Order: sequence, then C-alpha cells, then structure tokens
Amino acid sequence: MSDYETLLVETHGAVTLVRLNRPQALNALNTAILRDLIDAFAAYDADDGQRCLVLTGSEKAFAAGADIKEMQDQGFAQMYGANFFGGFEKVWSVRKPWIAAVGGFALGGGCELAMMADIMIAADTARFGQPEIKLGVAPGMGGSQRLTRAVGKSKAMDMVLTGRMMDAVEAEKANLCSKVVPAADLVDEALKMAATIAGMAPLAAIANKEMVNVAFETGLATGILFERRLFNGLCATEDKKEGMGAFVEKRPGVWTGR
Ligand code: CAA
Repeated sequence: MSDYETLLVETHGAVTLVRLNRPQALNALNTAILRDLIDAFAAYDADDGQRCLVLTGSEKAFAAGADIKEMQDQGFAQMYGANFFGGFEKVWSVRKPWIAAVGGFALGGGCELAMMADIMIAADTARFGQPEIKLGVAPGMGGSQRLTRAVGKSKAMDMVLTGRMMDAVEAEKANLCSKVVPAADLVDEALKMAATIAGMAPLAAIANKEMVNVAFETGLATGILFERRLFNGLCATEDKKEGMGAFVEKRPGVWTGR
C-alpha cells in the first residue's frame, strides 16, 4: 500500500489498484488529488512489473466533480495562469492501459476523469452527469469533447444543457461504458479484466491502445496507415515471435516485453 494523502494504492500481481480517497468531499477533485493522481499514474507507467491499472472511488462516489469550494474564489487570471485542470493531461496521456471502475456519482470532473480511461466499467449504482451549467459554467476537463465522442451530439447536448444525471443502464446503452455489473462486484470485475490485459504482451498492449486513440484524432486513411505501420513494427519484437510460435506449438506465450 503506497502512502498518499488522497489515494489508496495497492498492487494485485501486475495490476495497480488506485482508490480515490476523499470521502468527506465525495472524492471531489482538488489540487491534492490531482497531485497524487499524477504521481501514482507516473509511477505505474514507469514500473515494468505493472501492466494495467484500475481507478475506482467509493461506493457512494467515483468523484462528484472538481472541487467547487476550491474553485469558488478563483477568477480568470488565476485559472488561466495556473492552467487549471491542465495537469489532468498527464493522467490521460499515460501510455499503459487503465480502467475506470465507476460506482455512485461520477459528475462533472468525475465523469470527465472516468472518460479519460481506456475502458470504463460501471456499477449498477453509477450516476453520470455534466452538471456544470447549474454552477454557471461548463465542463472544463474534456467533457464537452469526450462525452460527445462517446454518446453523440444529441445526448451530449441533453446532458450538458440540462445538467441531468444518466444512470448505468442508459450509460451502457449510450456506449459511455463497456459494461454494467452489480455494485458489489465492481472492483473484482475490473481487476479480472485488468489481469487479462496485464497478461498480454506489454508492447502490444501499448500499441493497441495507441491505435484506438488515433481513431479519435485523425481521418480514416491516415488512421489505417498508422495501424498498419505499427503492426509492421510489432513484427520486429521478440514477443511477436513468441506469440505466434506459442500458438503454433499450442502453448501459452511467455512475454519479455521486447
Ligand atoms: N466540490 C466540493 N465539495 C463537494 C463536491 C464538489 N464537487 N461534491 C460534494 N461535495 C461535498 C459537499 O459539499 C459535502 O460537504 P459538507 O459535508 O462539508 O457540506 C459533502 O461533499 C457531501 O455532499 P452532499 O452533502 O451534497 O451529499 P448528497 O448525497 O446530498 O449529494 C451530490 C450528492 C448530488 C453529488 C452533491 O454533492 C452534488 O451535487 N455535488 C456537486 C456536483 C457537481 O456540481 N459537480 C461538478 C463540479 S464542477 C466541475 O467538475 C468542473 C469541471 O468540469 C472540471
């Protein structure tokens, strides 16, 4: 267990489990949580023994948003000068795969943090929303972009303009999350999925993630070329030789990450 003011971090074999731990504020994302998240995600990315990460919150809240009390007295010059929320790019740009396991409230920055994950799994108790309009503002951690890419224009507009919450069933139907599980099983299900990913060839895991992310950034022909070249590149790895050899020899692959 690592020592953070606002996070509980454990390892389960090659999987890192990070729990947001500010129960008194429903895991509202303040400067301390951001600092700890950046550190924990960088440590995960740098550790060759860790191959997948699960980020979760509490039963009541994944995270109820950016910390409103911290933002209350900050004006444009302070926010712009500090590039407020800019640090979350460091969480999003981690190279190795990670899963958000969302139970309870995932509102505002909480929903936006979950949408930064490569895969989102929701508990049947999850409630998603971008209620910033009710505070006289708008999403500030990527919600207008990632929510729209995930659920399409009409539902994204519905969410940001009314500030209403979406339950887990609606979120799965709208492709916001990959599956919904009973709340009691949320972390175990996420750890199981993470263990499957952690069992894959590490370079291939990074390459697969990069390919899918490029689909959000580029046109089809360029994206397909990116995919093909990365595929070509993977063919130069030891793990490709091992993976294909293991298939032919009818045995599991043993990866070296080279
Ligand atoms: N920031 C700071 N504190 C928060 C918080 C937040 N986003 N959300 C909850 N809290 C605090 C509450 O102030 C309360 O603290 P006190 O006991 O000291 O009063 C504690 O957490 C428990 O919250 P509630 O008593 O409100 O709990 P509830 O069960 O009655 O309601 C809730 C739960 C519906 C989630 C409600 O807390 C709520 O609406 N929270 C704010 C949600 C929100 O507007 N999020 C968007 C924030 S802006 C943003 O995220 C910008 C961005 O795009 C990055």
